[in-house]
Amino acid sequence: MQIYERLKKDHDKQRDLCDAIKATGGDTEKRNNLWKELRIELEAHASAEEQAFYSELMKEPDGTDETRHAVEEHQEMTEMIEVLDNLDMDAGIWMKKFEKLAHKVIHHVDEEEAEFFPKAKEIFTKEEAKDMAEEFDERKPAEVKKQSAA
Ligand SMILES: [Fe+2]
Ligand SMILES: [Fe+2]
Repeated sequence: MQIYERLKKDHDKQRDLCDAIKATGGDTEKRNNLWKELRIELEAHASAEEQAFYSELMKEPDGTDETRHAVEEHQEMTEMIEVLDNLDMDAGIWMKKFEKLAHKVIHHVDEEEAEFFPKAKEIFTKEEAKDMAEEFDERKPAEVKKQSAA
């Protein structure tokens, strides 16, 4: 598997979790569980993606601007997650803020798939893209563990 398919698999999970959370209401067990799952997934994915994929893309003059932009978006999402974590899930504002985060997540993964992947495919060989997927799979479990403990 190349890095593109591997990342797409996570992106689809993120899309599904965003939809599932939108269908929940109030401070319920379901919303709490789904939110925890999404929060861990977003943070662990972003960290492993930066370590395995963006670090390589950053080394290429053609990839630097895009990489900076994407890392900035990761940071924005982290800040939005922190805000949500500190809000009462029962309050209406929680869903308003969540919808903003979900919008950002979808924009981000769409952009990665539509703009970054084609660009990276011009830069990396298939072999390199496979190595990056392996690296991603090595890094992600450690990031999940770290986020689960947070
Ligand atoms: Fe990303
Ligand atoms: Fe991603």
